[in-house]
Amino acid sequence: MYKIAIIENFHKSGLELLNKNKNFSYEIIEDVSEENLIKKLPNFDGCTLRVSKLNKKILENCPNLKIISRHGVGYDNVDIEFLKEKKITLCITSNANAIAVAEHVMYMMLSISKGIISHDQSVRNGLFKEGIANIETFELDGKEILIVGFGRIGKCLVSKCKSFNMIIKIFDPYVDEKEISNLGCKKVDSLEEAFKTADYISLHIPLTKDTENLINLKILKTMKKNLILINTSRGGVINEHDLDYALNNKLIFGAGIDVFKIEPVTDENPLIKNKRVLLSPHSATFTNECKIRMAKNTIQNIIDFFENKLDNSMIVKL
Ligand SMILES: NC(=O)c1ccc[n+]([C@@H]2O[C@H](COP(=O)([O-])OP(=O)(O)OC[C@H]3O[C@@H](n4cnc5c(N)ncnc54)[C@H](O)[C@@H]3O)[C@@H](O)[C@H]2O)c1
Repeated sequence: MYKIAIIENFHKSGLELLNKNKNFSYEIIEDVSEENLIKKLPNFDGCTLRVSKLNKKILENCPNLKIISRHGVGYDNVDIEFLKEKKITLCITSNANAIAVAEHVMYMMLSISKGIISHDQSVRNGLFKEGIANIETFELDGKEILIVGFGRIGKCLVSKCKSFNMIIKIFDPYVDEKEISNLGCKKVDSLEEAFKTADYISLHIPLTKDTENLINLKILKTMKKNLILINTSRGGVINEHDLDYALNNKLIFGAGIDVFKIEPVTDENPLIKNKRVLLSPHSATFTNECKIRMAKNTIQNIIDFFENKLDNSMIVKL
């Protein structure tokens, strides 16, 4: 029988798959401190992983571990070099969350463009007419959006933007022009140039050494004053202090942020006091539908791995 550690629980539909399968037993681990994971993990053959960190110090103590199944698609919280060296399989819930994230981007673009939060407050505070006079709002129709990263989520966002009649530009040096033009979008080769003309920018890239602090003050200064910037990828891609400065100094119009450099956010993060940014708690995938898809996919990947039928598209090429 294979022993699976469920590191941070998720929707019950995933565990129901394990309950039905006699080849697996599992234990849910909610205390994700390094100390507890070092103590608990050594006996397990596989584990699931949400946002907590699996560093080398923890992994060195897991001699039986053969697979880590991420509940999600990002994997910057795992020591990849260690997995490579020890040939531990890492898989992700590849196609489970693109729709939810792409819809979250639309929700953020629309909320900021239409001044939803301010309008709501105006009505409640008895400022019915004053609110309308003082709140600047925009249409998406005819506006240029730059999608940075043309993977699962970037592609899924395209159809949503098209339905709003937006002009769609794509920056992704790893995807060829044909694939982009086939979806009716324009590939751009210079990120710096594309930043200058975009009305909306949505980030869909992994956090790597190349993308860390990609959005910094120098770049923000080149953007249009009406720019609305959306980040549902990873917090470290934006320098949060620079973004705070840019918003306060009206270098850009607004921002929608679902992901943060340090999560959960603390008072240290300047964005939580900034009224020009719309925040959400890394919740883009928290739709009922997506929670179920991710939970089932996370567990199915583990079952498929031990039954030697794991689909290649779920495996991260290390
Ligand atoms: N907010 C959330 O809850 C949430 C949910 C899912 C995914 N994410 C994050 O969203 C991001 C995208 O996810 P995905 O499933 O679309 O990933 P993906 O791997 O399918 O796509 C990423 C794309 O980024 C491109 N890319 C890599 N480096 C780049 C660079 N320097 N410049 C431009 N493009 C670059 C790759 O070529 C690839 O096409 C990841 O960071 C992931 O962690 C967040």
